Amino acid sequence: MKTIAANSLPQLEFYRYLIGAVGPRPIAFASTISEEGHVNLSPFSFFNVIGSNPPMLMLSPNLNRNGHKKHTLLNLEETGEVVINIVNHDMVEQMSLSSAEFDRHVNEFQKAGFTEVASVQVRPPRVAEAPAAFECVVRQIIPTGSDPGAGTLVLVEVVVGHFRDDIFTDKGLIDPHKIDLVGRMGADWYVRANGEALFEVARPKAGIGYDALPAALRDSRILTGNDLGKLASVDALPTPDEVRSYGETQALRELGDEARTGCQYLPDVMHHRAHQLLAQQNVREAWLSLLLVTGK
Ligand SMILES: Cc1cc2nc3c(=O)[nH]c(=O)nc-3n(C[C@H](O)[C@H](O)[C@H](O)COP(=O)(O)O)c2cc1C
Repeated sequence: MKTIAANSLPQLEFYRYLIGAVGPRPIAFASTISEEGHVNLSPFSFFNVIGSNPPMLMLSPNLNRNGHKKHTLLNLEETGEVVINIVNHDMVEQMSLSSAEFDRHVNEFQKAGFTEVASVQVRPPRVAEAPAAFECVVRQIIPTGSDPGAGTLVLVEVVVGHFRDDIFTDKGLIDPHKIDLVGRMGADWYVRANGEALFEVARPKAGIGYDALPAALRDSRILTGNDLGKLASVDALPTPDEVRSYGETQALRELGDEARTGCQYLPDVMHHRAHQLLAQQNVREAWLSLLLVTGK
């Protein structure tokens, strides 16, 4: 383990560790407007949702290498409005292009080839190509320092949201497969939230907890931390009668016979079985299999 005091390294070096480890980060594609009416469009991955009542987002334009404010921050201070456009995979190269250091009054919609759509309640336009966009007003601007690289926490309240029709499930929720988001990692790396990168984790009830797992499971060479997390999330274990009946099923009797004939260690066989069942989200049968070879 590398342990580093933040102030023992030049700012840029520790920054590289920060952005390499804190990720993937969502990307706010911020459209702003200056007092004089010049439109700006730039991406910020120091960004997140921070509250839902009222709906609040934050983004942080850092002071640049010379300690100067970025154009987005100047616009936010001047006019107090922003549209946070959401970036999907189809937009990523053009979005990256817009992050180049253009002069103050250059419109990055034009430089990067995005289409402006008039907003409903704020002056900056939104990006037509974005799968979702949030019209926001600035509530607080909090500088975290005055040196190059210092952040400026901008807290904004969402007043209007726009969501493309084709990103929804039949039930009206945003479908992660359809919205096809990208996130920012360290250096020049991005991640695409699609295909095998997406998976579900069932929300736990107040489960029995890791500390209530039998030692034989916690110490298993076969069950992983994720397996144990799923096992510990159940609120009740199968009863001894249920375990006994499960052990008497044809499939389990055959498995026992196979283990004996092949001189396999039965607890290992059952831990492998449970591991596979857990991968299929079949937590109950995994517990039944494990309890056949585990004391409480
Ligand atoms: C994906 C991505 C994420 C970025 N995130 C940030 C960020 O969180 N904060 C920041 O200051 N700059 C960030 N940048 C760099 C700015 O986009 C870049 O400095 C841009 O030129 C600022 O434009 P402006 O001066 O017109 O506001 C990011 C760049 C990219 C490509």
